[in-house]
Amino acid sequence: MVCRIAIVLFLSAGLASSSHFTVALSTWTSCGTGLDCANLTVPLKYADPSPHETATITLARFNATASTRKGSILVNPGGPGASGVALVSAGAGQSISTITGGEYDIIGFDPRGVGGAEPKFACFANTGDEYDFNSAFPAGANLWIGAFANATEEKAVSSSIKDFDTAAAKLAAACLKQNSKALFTLSASYVVRDMASIVDFLDGPGAKLNYWGFSYANAQTYVSQLPNDQISVRNAIKDFAQLCCEAGPSACSFGGTSKSAADIEARFDALHKTAFSKLVVASGVPISSSIMSSFLWTFFTVPPTWPLVSALIAGLEAGDASALLNVLVTSAGSAPANRSPPAVGLRSLSSMGLTCVDNAPTNLVPLTFCRNFGAQRPKLHNLGVSKITDTDCILAEHNNPILIVNGIHDTNTPLKSAQRLRAILPCSSRIAARGGPGHTTISLPSLGLAKTVANYFRTGALPPDGAFYPSDLVVFPKNTTLSVAPSTPTFNGTSYSNSDRVILNAVYGIVLAFLAIA
Ligand SMILES: *[C@@H]1O[C@H](CO)[C@@H](O)[C@H](O)[C@H]1NC(C)=O
Ligand SMILES: *[C@@H]1O[C@H](CO)[C@@H](O)[C@H](O)[C@H]1NC(C)=O
Ligand SMILES: *[C@@H]1O[C@H](CO)[C@@H](O)[C@H](O)[C@H]1NC(C)=O
Ligand SMILES: *[C@@H]1O[C@H](CO)[C@@H](O)[C@H](O)[C@H]1NC(C)=O
Ligand SMILES: *[C@@H]1O[C@H](CO)[C@@H](O)[C@H](O)[C@H]1NC(C)=O
Repeated sequence: MVCRIAIVLFLSAGLASSSHFTVALSTWTSCGTGLDCANLTVPLKYADPSPHETATITLARFNATASTRKGSILVNPGGPGASGVALVSAGAGQSISTITGGEYDIIGFDPRGVGGAEPKFACFANTGDEYDFNSAFPAGANLWIGAFANATEEKAVSSSIKDFDTAAAKLAAACLKQNSKALFTLSASYVVRDMASIVDFLDGPGAKLNYWGFSYANAQTYVSQLPNDQISVRNAIKDFAQLCCEAGPSACSFGGTSKSAADIEARFDALHKTAFSKLVVASGVPISSSIMSSFLWTFFTVPPTWPLVSALIAGLEAGDASALLNVLVTSAGSAPANRSPPAVGLRSLSSMGLTCVDNAPTNLVPLTFCRNFGAQRPKLHNLGVSKITDTDCILAEHNNPILIVNGIHDTNTPLKSAQRLRAILPCSSRIAARGGPGHTTISLPSLGLAKTVANYFRTGALPPDGAFYPSDLVVFPKNTTLSVAPSTPTFNGTSYSNSDRVILNAVYGIVLAFLAIA
């Protein structure tokens, strides 16, 4: 649904006339209720194909349920680093099929460097070294949210970013030293060729490539994204405070005695800042701002988790971190019993390399991380952006429309980036926005947007440019038992038909699948 589809369709046209390489599919085998899995073998390098050098892309399929099958919809959660096979297997295959009317097979795929795909993007010789490095690697720059907009904090911001950059440089050096084949062959340019190979194989050469992507790394606007990110995070915090205040303390425990959203926001900022300037020691365990940030920035992306977030930070404010620690420990993973097997390509480490292969190396401050990966680039450069005007025309000529969708307060992929993409695809694309916070549009279900997406896949129809769809989820429902997210969602419309409810529940099913694989 974003930049990649443009590149994909452009390259797909080229592939049909020059398929000198071999693509092979293993037998589909059952891999869960209603699911089949297979491996697609493709050339490691399309430009220089050798039968001895291959890459393997793992696939999971949820069959079309309607009597007329129209083809396939490829899906991938993005990340970078998240597995499409895992997403489809966790229930998103069924949900996406329901939303789009059952006429398509839903195909989740693990792109190169991710999940079961081979070769692995390995930066370490064995699982022990990989685990040790990962345990010490910071989740992000150690900063509190207010620091970016605060002139007094300029020095602290710059030194925190430098520290993070130093850690990133060490990771890049380890990856280069290990010199995995994946390092040179996993940029978006390769992945789009693989996607064309999947569709050519499953639906026949020249078949239309349909793709629903959820999250993306922005190749063109990376450098200027930081201030936008900060604005988006701030907007999400304001949304959190507003919804928390409206719900009242029985549904949002962090609301406490605060009488206004502004007061809730100020208490949140104070808590985050305290953790930055001096560790909050809660239950005898020091909680740094970087620990708190990585937890918060992860959970802030998915509003259905906010009742839990609210309880955890209320605990932290009261000096009781037991609930927070519980969540952190559950997600931390444990040291490998046997340290000697080859490294597995840990998602937390490879995601940085994956982000950087598609972003131009730069020396510009403050975002310098990808500079460290600059010496070794994939052999196929990412031509997507420099050729995007050609792509736009070809897509429009061939009637292959692109629907760009974005939440208005998305913390990770700001609406501004989506608008920029819309501007560089003037003929072929239209943009639609979903109200409220949350990363990716499905993190906060919207009936209007879901129907628009379904219509796009079924008929190719695009909404009016700039269409806006409110969300339908009650973020802080009454009477909910705390879990990561409520298992049964509460929607706030007053006149849903039965089929509306089926669609909304299916969208929520994708959210739960995202949370299950996070
Ligand atoms: C999906 O469809 C294929 C082709 O018709 C069939 O062979 C396979 O058994 C089906 N899989 C499931 C899980 O129903
Ligand atoms: C795909 O390949 C992997 C690695 O070789 C293997 O473990 C897995 O069983 C294969 N899956 C299928 C469905 O063939
Ligand atoms: C800016 O940072 C300084 C130093 O930490 C602090 O005293 C001040 O309150 C901050 N200003 C805002 C608006 O947060
Ligand atoms: C909340 O739970 C109570 C007790 O089970 C019930 O009486 C009340 O109707 C519930 N409220 C809502 C909004 O579901
Ligand atoms: C439902 O709640 C969302 C906020 O989550 C709000 O934007 C929307 O307007 C509400 N819809 C109705 C019908 O109240």
